[in-house]
Amino acid sequence: MLYSGLAVLAGGLFALTNAATIAQIKGDSFLSPLAGQVVYNVTGIVTAKDRYGLWLTDEPSRDGHVSSSLRVFGSTVAVRNTRVGDKISLSGTVTEYRKLDRPDDLSLTELSSPGQVIVHSTGHKIDPVVLGHARIPPTGPLSSLDVGSEGWLSVPGNVSLLTDVNPTLQPTLYGLDFWESLEGRLVTIPNPVALDFPSWMGAIWVRGDWPVQGLNKRGGLTIVNGKDDIPYAHSEAIPLGRPLDGSRNPKSTIGVKFENITGIVTYQFGFYTILPLTAPAIVSVPDEEPLPSSIIALDDPCELTIGDYNVENMSPRSHHISKVANHIANYLNAPDIMFLQEIQSDSGSTDNGIVTANKTLKALTNAIERARKGVRYEFVNIEPEDNVDGGKPGSNIRVAYLWRPERVSLVGGSPRGNATQATEAIKGKDEKLSLSLNPGRINPLSPAWEDSRKPLAAMWQTTTGEHFYTVNVHFSSKRGSSPSHGNPRPPVNGHNARRTYQVNVTADFISTLLQHSPNASVILAGDMNEYLQTRSVFHSFNNLLFDINELSSVSPTERYTYVYEQHTQEIDHIFVSESVAKRGTEVEHIHVNTWAKSVGERASDHDPTVARVRVCESRMKMEGVVEDSSTFNVQLPLGL
Ligand SMILES: *[C@@H]1O[C@H](CO)[C@@H](O)[C@H](O)[C@H]1NC(C)=O
Ligand SMILES: *[C@@H]1O[C@H](CO)[C@@H](O)[C@H](O)[C@H]1NC(C)=O
Ligand SMILES: *[C@@H]1O[C@H](CO)[C@@H](O)[C@H](O)[C@H]1NC(C)=O
Ligand SMILES: *[C@@H]1O[C@H](CO)[C@@H](O)[C@H](O)[C@H]1NC(C)=O
Ligand SMILES: *[C@@H]1O[C@H](CO)[C@@H](O)[C@H](O)[C@H]1NC(C)=O
Ligand SMILES: *[C@@H]1O[C@H](CO)[C@@H](O)[C@H](O)[C@H]1NC(C)=O
Ligand SMILES: *[C@@H]1O[C@H](CO)[C@@H](O)[C@H](O)[C@H]1NC(C)=O
Repeated sequence: MLYSGLAVLAGGLFALTNAATIAQIKGDSFLSPLAGQVVYNVTGIVTAKDRYGLWLTDEPSRDGHVSSSLRVFGSTVAVRNTRVGDKISLSGTVTEYRKLDRPDDLSLTELSSPGQVIVHSTGHKIDPVVLGHARIPPTGPLSSLDVGSEGWLSVPGNVSLLTDVNPTLQPTLYGLDFWESLEGRLVTIPNPVALDFPSWMGAIWVRGDWPVQGLNKRGGLTIVNGKDDIPYAHSEAIPLGRPLDGSRNPKSTIGVKFENITGIVTYQFGFYTILPLTAPAIVSVPDEEPLPSSIIALDDPCELTIGDYNVENMSPRSHHISKVANHIANYLNAPDIMFLQEIQSDSGSTDNGIVTANKTLKALTNAIERARKGVRYEFVNIEPEDNVDGGKPGSNIRVAYLWRPERVSLVGGSPRGNATQATEAIKGKDEKLSLSLNPGRINPLSPAWEDSRKPLAAMWQTTTGEHFYTVNVHFSSKRGSSPSHGNPRPPVNGHNARRTYQVNVTADFISTLLQHSPNASVILAGDMNEYLQTRSVFHSFNNLLFDINELSSVSPTERYTYVYEQHTQEIDHIFVSESVAKRGTEVEHIHVNTWAKSVGERASDHDPTVARVRVCESRMKMEGVVEDSSTFNVQLPLGL
């Protein structure tokens, strides 16, 4: 043969590097030691095929640090003529493939330009590796390179590139190493459970019958802290890609159970992914429906209920207004104050210079009144300058408050601020703390808010005239993040520096309120686009504000308002000042959207939250009418 002739000419070494086993091609790290080389006599059993090529597995297979399987890319006639179960040998070029437009992805080791295909025998059977039995996905970090006190959430990200370091695989310790060591292999996921709705590309994240971290009651995996307070990355979860036989994966939501899935481990679109041989059938869907909150407004003027809801690009014509109204009226029990985010201008996302949102807010409050007779909300917002606060062009999304006038009102005496004026803590009548503008934006000209929504601060009074303060925020999104299975380690957390700055400016404002009046009752709520496990972003809130979940002893796995990829997560938060914290709190996240039956049935991508707070000392309690010492002198958690 031509090749053995060449090998003889070049000597033994040339022959060794040219005839290669799959294990030699794969090597014991992320990149092939033979990348770029032409290799011959690569031998294995065909385990699966698609229209672009096939997958080969060594026999006997060696499943350990080194993957025994390989993608063959190229659909020549000879490749197409092979059948699953054939033992073949072939030649090709070892390639590390990464899509040009996805520079942050890892690469897939392939044998491309296949040639010299010889079928030696047929009818072989390769048993899939049963995950959770033969090989158990680790629940620890994704990568040895995710160093830092917050693991995969440590900032800055992109301290190193996995393909530069190319570490030796440690599949029992690290998630990416585990899945890399199975790249190309046929595996079975026993008793799979979906962790999310399908992605826009149709991928479905699942866990199988193996140990997991952060399991919530619905069946999803919540971001929680692990050993040494390092957040779990859910290395044990994996997405399902398109089935190889052209069938379609069923619709999924958190907690949907599928039949066992057998498929090939590959890497695509930023993630290790399993391509099922065929679409699995659904075994069961969770039957528990979201229930209305048990938090109900009481008569005590000091005890208020507050709701927080990102209503996802709401305009006067939005189809989801009636759903959102029903959630506020009947699931949150019409809280005394609603903190809203993503209220669009009256012209929706038509880019025509209109910045007012009274029609949007009126449409919502009218719908709430229809959903629950007698519930009448007033509203306030500050119109942004046209197209300077980010979001869809023309939509001018902003935060807004709704309130029930029979329970609370905005304190009069200070004018309402405009888009560019900053409200400030001042000494008002009787030397008491007041706001210069009510409501008013917080430092709106600070570079922290460039291309982003400005926070809205307000000063309120109860029916007995007690004052309290609120701040409604919508911090910058995580756009620009790199995939959690991607090359930059730790992964890039898009706009984390911006959010850190926004937290700082918000904290500076709240600390001036508390300097004037250390007892002030302050409630901060909104879409902060960040998990509390990313502690670096929130550090300015330390010792200033307290997380209401922590105060209310909500189980860490049930703290979620959002689901994305492998994680259920809390990115919407409520914080309170010390005086509110000490009086005791209650909070519930109402999963009307993360538990929806499909993406289309959701009213918003966020769940709403409802809480009870005490903004003043209850008269009834002070006069000893009600004995309820349990809510007093609660132990405050140490910062964040
Ligand atoms: C080709 O590979 C097979 C299996 O690894 C081996 O038995 C055989 O000797 C190899 N042939 C050549 C010419 O290298
Ligand atoms: C990560 O850093 C590399 C340089 O080390 C750079 O080329 C790449 O663009 C960065 N990726 C991201 C997402 O910031
Ligand atoms: C799914 O896989 C598990 C583990 O291998 C096995 O015990 C179970 O019988 C399988 N279920 C079905 C329906 O095949
Ligand atoms: C919007 O509604 C509020 C409250 O009803 C009102 O005070 C304000 O003048 C209205 N703004 C516009 C631009 O109509
Ligand atoms: C806000 O009010 C101030 C003071 O009246 C004014 O100078 C400024 O132009 C106003 N900004 C906007 C955006 O209307
Ligand atoms: C702060 O609260 C305590 C306890 O409720 C009260 O005794 C004290 O007078 C308050 N101080 C101020 C400055 O309001
Ligand atoms: C905000 O950041 C500045 C500058 O780093 C710092 O001096 C200040 O203490 C921070 N504010 C808070 C409330 O942490």
